[in-house]
Amino acid sequence: MFNCSLIILIIIVSIISADNPSDLGKCQQEDLLLADCLEPHQNYIETSLFDVSGREISSSTFMRKFTNFTKSFATCIGTDLICDTARHYKFFVDGLTYIGENLYDPKVFKCLERISPKLQDCLNTVPLSFRNLRKYQSYTSDQKKLMNCVIERMKDDQVCKNRKIIDSVEKSLNATRLIIRNYKRFRRGIMEPIVFSESLLSGIEVMKKKKI
Ligand SMILES: *[C@@H]1O[C@H](CO)[C@@H](O)[C@H](O)[C@H]1NC(C)=O
Ligand SMILES: *[C@@H]1O[C@H](CO)[C@@H](O)[C@H](O)[C@H]1NC(C)=O
Repeated sequence: MFNCSLIILIIIVSIISADNPSDLGKCQQEDLLLADCLEPHQNYIETSLFDVSGREISSSTFMRKFTNFTKSFATCIGTDLICDTARHYKFFVDGLTYIGENLYDPKVFKCLERISPKLQDCLNTVPLSFRNLRKYQSYTSDQKKLMNCVIERMKDDQVCKNRKIIDSVEKSLNATRLIIRNYKRFRRGIMEPIVFSESLLSGIEVMKKKKI
């Protein structure tokens, strides 16, 4: 379920790195800032992010490093941004950092490692086609049912039942949806600049079936 999102995230990063900082334009300074902030990570990007397959998502070592990278990039960019491009990137790296810090917290990750059978089990109760499951940038009522089912199973598991852990997982999934939805808008050039914040995560609207 997460694989695809990791790949999208890496694509975002590589798009940023491929940006030509010497392009002229009114937002040139912010473009330069982005490039400057990536510069110290060039080696990491080229060696570690170059050929990711998506499986890395289940490696907490890889993901903690990745989160370290997104966090230090986000911090370097700062909050004082005017132009859409920089503000979009800031949104994405903040979002990724949020997900990384939540999901790869050692306690949460221990629980995540046990989630697969729960998900399988829930998929027997909530019949969702794989195709629908992957449309997780939207949030259908079936997905909500599935999520609630997984949460119930987590509550029965000693490693997972902690309220904070369940919350972290749910918020991270909501954050993933928010990022992917905006990433689609971003690619189509219709994304509104927004600041990533935890308060956005409870307001992910549930989409009606077939309306994406
Ligand atoms: C994260 O980055 C800091 C400095 O930027 C470094 O000291 C630390 O070892 C890094 N942690 C990981 C897990 O890579
Ligand atoms: C995740 O989004 C759903 C749908 O909007 C919402 O009902 C739920 O409260 C959110 N979860 C958290 C932990 O914010």
